[in-house]
Amino acid sequence: MHLKLRVWRQAGPTATGAFESYDMPEVSAEMSFLELIDELNEKLIEANKEPVAFDHDCREGICGSCSMMINGQAHGPSRGTATCQLFLRKFVDGSEITVEPWRAGAFPVIRDLSTDRTALDHIIESGGFISAPTGSAPDANLILVPKEVADAAMDAAACIGCGACVAACPNSAAQLFTAAKVAHLNLLPQGQPERWNRVQNMVDTMESYFGSCTNHGECEKACPKEISIDFIALLNKDYLKAQWKNRKLESQRG
Ligand code: FES
Repeated sequence: MHLKLRVWRQAGPTATGAFESYDMPEVSAEMSFLELIDELNEKLIEANKEPVAFDHDCREGICGSCSMMINGQAHGPSRGTATCQLFLRKFVDGSEITVEPWRAGAFPVIRDLSTDRTALDHIIESGGFISAPTGSAPDANLILVPKEVADAAMDAAACIGCGACVAACPNSAAQLFTAAKVAHLNLLPQGQPERWNRVQNMVDTMESYFGSCTNHGECEKACPKEISIDFIALLNKDYLKAQWKNRKLESQRG
């Protein structure tokens, strides 16, 4: 295959960035998108030029590192696919591909395609921990969880925290990420003791970094794990209840 790449190059967080074009005349359709960037970097290093900085780790769709906009779409054209699982056969031979970092105010560019997604970590931190005693391993089925609840919690737990939902959203909202992270604990019996504080703290932290959801639904389409926006409805419901319950608790404490 012959591909042309237009890649965003930016030397640092405060440097002015610009697109640079690269010709990739002989690449295999069986290569992954990250292997294409690897090959470009080998060419750049051989020519004594700076390689393209980009994040990656597992290359198996698990870690959520490989975040980039490909032709204006988070993780590229394939639904339910992280960039590391995207193969060049998805592109037309001879086409030009534009590659950019996530575009969101809460994700400043570190260099080239690499962005700082610490704001997502702050949402997780504010959720705290669960106080359910652990001790030795409990007997199987000691805490009964209905199958549909376990399935829904597992669907939410599939979130890999890549930030595609934020990058795809016109408001740069992080509702789908927060909803998934809240739901996978709030749905389970072990998540009940801190349920109301968790949702209130995580939503308040989210709002201090990210825009607000106005139901565009782009997040669900961009999510490499196809997490449903139904979880956002659950988040909103829990947040409303949490405000009421936490206010009541405060007034009881006097
Ligand atoms: S490199 Fe880990 S999800 Fe792509």
